[in-house]
Amino acid sequence: MRSKIVAGNWKMNKNLTETEALLTELAAKLPDTQAEVMVAPTYVNLASAVRTLESSVIEVIAQNMHFAESGAYTGEISADMLLSIGVDTAIIGHSERRAYFGETDEILAKKVVTALDKNIRVMFCFGEELEDRKSDNHFNVVESQLKNALFSLEASAWSKIVLAYEPVWAIGTGETASADQAQEMHAFIRKTITEAYDATIANNVSILYGGSVKPGNAGEIFGKPDVDGGLIGGAALVADDFVAIIKAI
Ligand code: 13P
Repeated sequence: MRSKIVAGNWKMNKNLTETEALLTELAAKLPDTQAEVMVAPTYVNLASAVRTLESSVIEVIAQNMHFAESGAYTGEISADMLLSIGVDTAIIGHSERRAYFGETDEILAKKVVTALDKNIRVMFCFGEELEDRKSDNHFNVVESQLKNALFSLEASAWSKIVLAYEPVWAIGTGETASADQAQEMHAFIRKTITEAYDATIANNVSILYGGSVKPGNAGEIFGKPDVDGGLIGGAALVADDFVAIIKAI
């Protein structure tokens, strides 16, 4: 059985004081839910976030991590550093990392291998750009992103992977994929994993949708059979909105 997950990616938002305030409010308002709830504040506030949420079920996760164990990589953060503060899940492959920081499929494949070696759960993000969808190439793009970064992994690695389909054209734009578009792509992703591995792996991996999920559209998107939750950007920065999205699952 795959888990339902609602995760908030805070991106480069909220200073230390604001982070503590938002987490305290979220912990107080968290509804009863079967879903796993996660938040990804910025690196500098991760350790404090872990402390603030010590007695909450909300999990603190990282927005990124480096593929090297340690060494001369100024500005980067290693798997061991995350583990040492109690963070054992990392987002890898976010489209903003790909677009603004030159993260290629090859780099992402290395990050995934390092994370799994260190027993860090991977929330792997991928998704097509607007031109890909307009030219009807979106299935090919998604298939190659998955293949290049994940399909060399051994079958057993998949128990530590969560997928997040985030069409780039829907991120931060207010334009959401329709629930039917999300379902269509998620079903395609499961079919692709079935072909590369098997149906058990495909059916056990949680596939989240991300891209302008809001309280008003979350219910419809989460209602689709192959959508197991959401990776939420803007709406995760407002406690009441994030709580409403958690309730929708
Ligand atoms: P928005 O919800 O702001 O569109 O961001 C989605 C996202 O990129 C989550 O990782």
